[in-house]
Amino acid sequence: MLKFVILLSAVACALGGTIPEGLLPQLDGRIVGGYDTSITTFPWQISLQRNGGHSCGGSIYSSYIIVTAAHCLQSVSASSLKVRAGSSYWNSGGTLVNVAAFRNHEGYNPSTMVNDIAVIRLSSSLGFTSSIKAIGLANYNPANGALATVSGWGTQSSGSSSIPSQLQYVNLSIVSQSQCASATYGYGSQIKSTMICAYANGKDSCQGDSGGPLVSGAVLVGVVSWGYGCAYPNYPGVYADVAVLRPWVVSAANSV
Ligand SMILES: *[C@@H]1O[C@H](CO)[C@@H](O)[C@H](O)[C@H]1NC(C)=O
Repeated sequence: MLKFVILLSAVACALGGTIPEGLLPQLDGRIVGGYDTSITTFPWQISLQRNGGHSCGGSIYSSYIIVTAAHCLQSVSASSLKVRAGSSYWNSGGTLVNVAAFRNHEGYNPSTMVNDIAVIRLSSSLGFTSSIKAIGLANYNPANGALATVSGWGTQSSGSSSIPSQLQYVNLSIVSQSQCASATYGYGSQIKSTMICAYANGKDSCQGDSGGPLVSGAVLVGVVSWGYGCAYPNYPGVYADVAVLRPWVVSAANSV
């Protein structure tokens, strides 16, 4: 599904003061300010497809388990989902695999976006190649300011209705939970302990990147979750914090 994005018009009244607690979903959107890339550079990236269209990103955790966002898997049945792995293009190439089952984090809350993480079990296992590889989960969070890279097939501007067919990526800087919740940025107390942020001027993940990988130090540190607009000044992209949610992922991967 979609990165949950607050429309700028919806927050216009809030910019001077209170920010609404509720987050509005917006139709499919891609990486803003990014570059074309190849799946061999991001071999853990998958396209989660719903009824034949790209809906979200995800990351390969093992040959049969994908990590994605819980908001991607609301009101959906496993039989309507497929995963494309091993292609730079969401709509062709690589391998297209059925979904056997999925599990959303039991503590996911769509009004606060806490615990926005889920696991998917594939119907058949992925064979690892130079284009299909698993990525490890972060054990601890990278330092504030560390380089991180997000990839996906999401929209290239906030509110756009078309997505690119070729995988995009952008380099960002990690913004720690405490920094992201500080007065330096606009979110304040909406940033909870299951969230980590990443920011760069004019660059961001966007709708359609949801569920996809934020990688730093060659491990998965975040899952694309939400934000106010995309690449909007002082509003970093917000990600599910993989280091914090890791115990849930490890356990859910064994039971899904
Ligand atoms: C992004 O960061 C990677 C790793 O440092 C680097 O190889 C790549 O050139 C960077 N891309 C851009 C567009 O700056």
